Amino acid sequence: MKTDMNREVDHILVSQEQIAQRVAELGAQLSEEYDGKNVILVCILKGAVHFFSDLSRSMTCHLEMDFMSISSYGNNARKTSGIVRIAKDLDSSITGRHVLIVEDIMDSGLTLKYLKDLLSARKPASLKICCLLDKPERRECDITPDYVGFVIPNEFVLGYGLDYDGLYRNLPYVGVKA
Ligand code: IMP
Ligand code: MG
Repeated sequence: MKTDMNREVDHILVSQEQIAQRVAELGAQLSEEYDGKNVILVCILKGAVHFFSDLSRSMTCHLEMDFMSISSYGNNARKTSGIVRIAKDLDSSITGRHVLIVEDIMDSGLTLKYLKDLLSARKPASLKICCLLDKPERRECDITPDYVGFVIPNEFVLGYGLDYDGLYRNLPYVGVKA
């Protein structure tokens, strides 16, 4: 039978249209915030790939792009260990630069806490976090994203970059797994 990923999704949490509208709003807000600052947008691979691509194209100020690939040790599909391995570090120096981390979701917050501490040590002029999704109920440490697309309930989501066991990243919306 032909693959139909939609049938493996219980319900859509954030539609393609809602994402497009919110990304445009965030893009406008960030363009104001970073105008004249030549910000470095940091994409956290792989989950942020679509958000990063859409968000950067909705921004009208000058910006540079860099990419970081991280994975957490001993995590299963639904729970992060909080111990992060850097598989690919940034290419550029961020010392004295304005930096915006672009991530798919803040869940326990452990990954971004680790990353924020790591990058802060490199003395950027500013360091902020923009997440497409925020699950505040799950937080295990003291961190909040500076910019959020959508606050969502405590459900495991996939699509628009987010995966379950490596799959579903190519769904154009954010849904809850069936
Ligand atoms: P945290 O360290 O617990 O905040 O987890 C962050 C990472 O866990 C994210 O970058 C995602 O890769 C993954 N993650 C957390 N919640 C979900 C989810 O609901 N669906 C898919 N991946 C998730
Ligand atoms: Mg992930």
